[in-house]
Amino acid sequence: MPPPQDGVDDSAARVPLLPPPAPRRAAVRLHPLPLLIAATLAASYRLLFLAPAPSYYQSLLLSLGSNDTAAAHLHALTIRPHLAGTGANALAAAHVAATLSSHSFRTRLTSYSVLLSYPAYRSLSLSAPDRDTVLFALKQETYAGDPYEAVSAEAVPTFLAYAASGSVSAEAVYANYGRAEDFAYLAARGIDVTGKVAVARYGEVFRGDIVRNARDAGAAAAVIYSDAKDYAAGKTFPDGPWMPPTGVQVGSTFKGVGDPTTPMWASSEGCERLTIAEAMSSDDMPGIPALPVSWKDGETILQLIGGDVAPEDWQGGDGAAAYRFGPGPAVLNLTYTGNETMVTIQNVISVIEGGEEPERYVILGNHRDAWTFGAVDPNSGTASLLELNGCLSCKRRAGDLDGPSSCATGMPKMAGHGFYASATPQLDELLKEASKQVQNPDNGTQSLYDLWMSSNSSPLIGRLGGGSSDYSAFVQHIGIPSVDMAIGSDYPVYHSLYDDFIWMEKFGDPLFQRHVAAASMWGLVALRLSDEEILPFNYSNYATELENGALGISERVQGMPVSLSPLHKSIKEFRKAVAKVDSELKALQTWKIWSPWRNNPLKVRDINDRLMMTERAFTDREGLSGRPWYKHLIYAPSLHNDYGAEVYPGIGDAIERVKKTNTSESLQSIQHEIYRVSRVINQAALVLSGGLT
Ligand SMILES: *[C@@H]1O[C@H](CO)[C@@H](O)[C@H](O)[C@H]1NC(C)=O
Ligand SMILES: *[C@@H]1O[C@H](CO)[C@@H](O)[C@H](O)[C@H]1NC(C)=O
Ligand SMILES: *[C@@H]1O[C@H](CO)[C@@H](O)[C@H](O)[C@H]1NC(C)=O
Ligand SMILES: *[C@@H]1O[C@H](CO)[C@@H](O)[C@H](O)[C@H]1NC(C)=O
Repeated sequence: MPPPQDGVDDSAARVPLLPPPAPRRAAVRLHPLPLLIAATLAASYRLLFLAPAPSYYQSLLLSLGSNDTAAAHLHALTIRPHLAGTGANALAAAHVAATLSSHSFRTRLTSYSVLLSYPAYRSLSLSAPDRDTVLFALKQETYAGDPYEAVSAEAVPTFLAYAASGSVSAEAVYANYGRAEDFAYLAARGIDVTGKVAVARYGEVFRGDIVRNARDAGAAAAVIYSDAKDYAAGKTFPDGPWMPPTGVQVGSTFKGVGDPTTPMWASSEGCERLTIAEAMSSDDMPGIPALPVSWKDGETILQLIGGDVAPEDWQGGDGAAAYRFGPGPAVLNLTYTGNETMVTIQNVISVIEGGEEPERYVILGNHRDAWTFGAVDPNSGTASLLELNGCLSCKRRAGDLDGPSSCATGMPKMAGHGFYASATPQLDELLKEASKQVQNPDNGTQSLYDLWMSSNSSPLIGRLGGGSSDYSAFVQHIGIPSVDMAIGSDYPVYHSLYDDFIWMEKFGDPLFQRHVAAASMWGLVALRLSDEEILPFNYSNYATELENGALGISERVQGMPVSLSPLHKSIKEFRKAVAKVDSELKALQTWKIWSPWRNNPLKVRDINDRLMMTERAFTDREGLSGRPWYKHLIYAPSLHNDYGAEVYPGIGDAIERVKKTNTSESLQSIQHEIYRVSRVINQAALVLSGGLT
């Protein structure tokens, strides 16, 4: 079984609401990632029909889900804020473990000691000529009748985890979405950010990248706010789904994955560790003090920033007063002291043991810890997982669980309508087939597939290059075929005090049928991966993705003296391997139709090994140049936006370097990266075709 992903994770969530353009792919992420249910489903006999006709077990699974128990799980998990490392999150772990044990699956809790970050002191004040100084309260307000009013006091004060401690008093500069290109634009306009406090809004890139970009531009501190235009475009909670005036998106700014004291290795008992000071001086840390603020506070600051009027695509708020670049005359005094400390967190692991090949696993998991109550992020996923586990337990009593196994992960999150999926490409067809068997939770005459097709997701199936999500370690570090699914996408109250059960009940999933649909889809995919004699992987989509990626690269290197022919050749080899394995699979199926005997188990094992290990072959021991944790050479986060997924990231990084320093060495480095990618694709072709590697 692959090692659980340790430590601090900022997993990806997706959520805008009905009028969808809100926060972009507001990755839902969390600190460490507790929950991980490993399920091997297997037994000693197999089904006679070939997929995709739904088996008796699949139909049984689809008929078992209950919206009432899903709602009860979510309610219990979100009864109070449960930040990673707190007693409340340990209680949530106990709830998960008790539920899984009550389904009589073998369950255990595993503890890890990891470096987490909490706020010890925060203050932010604003002064400007002829104005009284404003001291911001930095507090998210509850509303009249809020049933969570008392426990809200347990929520962590608004902060950006891992921001540097320090005090800065300097003029404010407006930096739009805080992207690298926004700071480049300021520089081109002659607006000096050096020593200033950069004020940027959420919504386009990972918050850790906003702070790093500000630091790289010379800023002494950063303030990130949620702009009303993006996060409060309609009625605000509790009257509507949008972010209330004092709502703040909190979250991590660490760009690495896992425990910062164990950057390239597992965070296990007695292992080698960096000191806290060493971990905090890593380049993956933001390096300057920073605080998040509400849209109301953001507006107050922007009203006092003068200078030239910023362009149209930098404007926001209600549009009444134009946003200007600064610097000043507004002066921000930001003081932040972080408490970086080693704490204990837990994974809950439950195993449904297989009868055949019990050493192979299908892993279903999502994190459990939340920045506040976590009703959408992450516990809608946890509630679905517990619901699914209950269904599997009934199934087991009704008959037997079956089949060989492979590896995959997933983590549905529910908020609003629409179905979204990302996967490594050999799983595309499986997802489409499974979604045709699940009902659209909001329209009984349609399937989840119909909902998916009408959700306008572009591309239809995303890829798993985005950083610091629950799937990151599985795909990007060790190369395991994986899936990430969600019903609903970005949601405005993401990582704020208002991501609670009431929000879910009123706006996210009022009848909890979306939770059930997610559990059904998740379970069906897991069941087919574990049940079927031959893994339901289709690599021809992978070949197409590799070709499309190569087209993208060829556009980017146009006019540069580099050759893509090694890459094209390796993709051709990969196509040939796909054809070879396809004809072997056809031969096995023909045999199965005409023969009363089972397929030769050694042949089956051989083909499954090859199908499973092909993904592993896309990884490289050295990893990406300058980013050695990222071993997968096909998918990784883009350098300046951890939420963004790149194809051939190593080649992309090298092209970016050439744009900065156009030297012959940097051109050579593009060629070198092309060769490296070609080598792993050739390697994958050899593994898939069963050649000598
Ligand atoms: C830091 O956090 C730890 C763990 O929550 C706590 O025990 C300690 O008192 C905190 N220290 C400060 C200075 O806040
Ligand atoms: C900034 O705020 C801090 C904390 O409130 C205070 O100690 C400090 O004197 C202030 N600095 C300036 C220059 O006003
Ligand atoms: C449900 O789906 C059917 C078939 O696609 C469609 O005709 C109908 O309008 C949908 N109903 C609602 C309420 O969206
Ligand atoms: C479950 O669904 C039924 C039928 O749609 C509905 O009446 C009930 O209120 C739902 N339960 C919850 C907890 O939403």
